Amino acid sequence: MGLLRKRALNYENSPFALRYLCSGNGSFLLSEYDAWNVWGRLPDSLTSGKRPKVAQPFFSRREQTGRLLQSLDKDARKIAPYLMARLPLSRSKTLLDVGGGLGSFTIACCRRSPHLRAIIVEHPRVVSFTSRAVKSAKIGKRVQVMGLDIAKEPLPRGFDLVLISNVLHGQGARENRALLRSAYRCLNQGGRIVLRDVLMSRAGTNPDWGALFSVALFLHTPRGRCYALDEVHGWLRAAGFSGIKGPFRSSPLPFDPDSVLIAEKS
Ligand SMILES: C[S@@+](CC[C@H](N)C(=O)[O-])C[C@H]1O[C@@H](n2cnc3c(N)ncnc32)[C@H](O)[C@@H]1O
Repeated sequence: MGLLRKRALNYENSPFALRYLCSGNGSFLLSEYDAWNVWGRLPDSLTSGKRPKVAQPFFSRREQTGRLLQSLDKDARKIAPYLMARLPLSRSKTLLDVGGGLGSFTIACCRRSPHLRAIIVEHPRVVSFTSRAVKSAKIGKRVQVMGLDIAKEPLPRGFDLVLISNVLHGQGARENRALLRSAYRCLNQGGRIVLRDVLMSRAGTNPDWGALFSVALFLHTPRGRCYALDEVHGWLRAAGFSGIKGPFRSSPLPFDPDSVLIAEKS
């Protein structure tokens, strides 16, 4: 995976690992997140097949959640300019950001498009972090924050654009199918959905970062994993979407393994 180099009998960090994975230089996803204890459970989890009852740390440990959200925000701010270039912002007056974390993408979009109004939906256990981040961004009343469990409640309606970034991998396939149906209902006619996630080959083994991330999701979530492009296409079509475009690389940044799919409610 390009993380270690062997020289004679010694291993050393590759330039990539030195730049993105060493503490102090952290700009890699989860740089502030201490997952040591969770990974320590790998042998037991693999032999027993037991998974956590709720997504960790989002719905279990408040302090770790704060640090993880900060890490995601740090990365998202770097990715946002590239992602925004893909979004049909000029045609959109309203944006719904589902599982928007600290609102990094929404805040960037609203700064880029002064006519845009947005709602960020976050889980009730996480939403206070979102509200604080949006308040300190001083973006005014254009961004509203809503506490809502997307696995249990329908999304609000009336949007031109729905962004679902790095949420699918945290949920099971059944929940994702329901989420995309709900996203279809919440869009205005002609509106677009933008999905950002690690998209895998049909066998689920490529890209290798995604395969490793799926192991992490086995340890951190009740039903999450990285999904294949074909699976996500199928969910989009079953929900009613058409004109599916992509996958595009979410950004050229070496620490960003995500792809983007865009589809339309026509
Ligand atoms: C990996 S983070 C992605 C944050 C942001 N969208 C990004 O791309 O940087 C996943 C987010 O989805 C939220 N989330 C997960 N399950 C949820 C649920 N059932 N209801 C609402 N939000 C949820 C989490 O709280 C978390 O902030």
